[in-house]
Amino acid sequence: MAMQQPFRPFDPNRTPLAQQFRTWTEQTPAPYDKALVDPYTRCRVILMNGIENDSWFFLHHWYRHTGDEKLRAKIAELRRVETQQQTSVNWLNPADQTVIETTIAYEQVATDLTANLAKNEPDPYAKQVLDFALIEDFDHLYRYAHLMQLLEGKSAETIVKGQTDIAAGRPTPEEHRRPADMVRRHIDNKTADVKTKLNAQTITAAEQQTYLFYKSHGFMYGNDLARRLYAEIAEVEEEHVTQYESVADPKATWLEMAALKQVNEAYNYYSCWQTETDPRLAAIWEQFYRMELEHVQQVGQLLHEQEGKDIHTMFPAEIAPLIVFESNKEYVRQIVNTQRNLQPLGTEFRSKEQLPADWGSYRSIVNREGVPSQQIVEMVPAPA
Ligand SMILES: [Fe+2]
Ligand SMILES: [Fe+2]
Ligand SMILES: [Fe+2]
Ligand SMILES: [Fe+2]
Repeated sequence: MAMQQPFRPFDPNRTPLAQQFRTWTEQTPAPYDKALVDPYTRCRVILMNGIENDSWFFLHHWYRHTGDEKLRAKIAELRRVETQQQTSVNWLNPADQTVIETTIAYEQVATDLTANLAKNEPDPYAKQVLDFALIEDFDHLYRYAHLMQLLEGKSAETIVKGQTDIAAGRPTPEEHRRPADMVRRHIDNKTADVKTKLNAQTITAAEQQTYLFYKSHGFMYGNDLARRLYAEIAEVEEEHVTQYESVADPKATWLEMAALKQVNEAYNYYSCWQTETDPRLAAIWEQFYRMELEHVQQVGQLLHEQEGKDIHTMFPAEIAPLIVFESNKEYVRQIVNTQRNLQPLGTEFRSKEQLPADWGSYRSIVNREGVPSQQIVEMVPAPA
């Protein structure tokens, strides 16, 4: 993408909080046309829905951990805006887009978002964490493409439109591990690069959204193999949420975490705005970006009042590069070729041959009666 301006978290052109509540009509913009939409516009809708749901979750958890009524009132106010934004973004998905079509798009997000974050991740360990799960979501796309062929007789190419390869990554049957092997080392906010902090927030929100989508739709199928495949892949998303949420600094205060969340929301909307090809959606991304700038200010005010901290010293005035959805075929192939045999042992990554004999004990339990991700590729001819 050419000539983007960097993201400025303290851009003064923001929307006052009192002007952020919208009517039911305003909250529910018309959906995109699934036949005409750019695949990466669809990806941005999925990503921003996940970002908003994560913001909503976070504000509820924070609220439940404070008895300060002034603070509770402010959290409730911000949260109402977040939930309205989430409605608007998720309601952009059209009614005629089937669950499996949306699922293919979720794994396209997971592939091309993760690749973009990994390419721009300055911390080598955080980059390894991203690359590790990148080729697992890439493999999910391949398995779900077979399910789409089975359920609808359609190619997943109708969704990904040639931008993302549909091919095997690290095989999904090998992705089931002991929970403790999904724990990762965490960063220290005092020394970490701001891009590392933002990447951890973005990818955790995206993987959490994917988990929630599979858990809230997988049971809706009458087909038994589809039911089991969603159960299997949803559990891998649970693993991914565990590894990604490990990375953020756990020693940050609630207010410091709130500041990072709001800056990250603004950064994501700004990235969408700058890269969006559909002018109607670009206008929504800009509108919500300017709301998030105000959330950053509001949390900054609370940080000043309650902890004597200056938010302007916590974040640089300009942040680059932006998040860009684009084709990453070459990069993904390279990671598949070099890291397919990598597995975690505790917080560290090892090649398969270096793992202790009992490493696969969990996998041998869950895979004992057959593995849906294997069965689907055996049952259905390779999708066109
Ligand atoms: Fe938001
Ligand atoms: Fe996935
Ligand atoms: Fe994932
Ligand atoms: Fe926000």
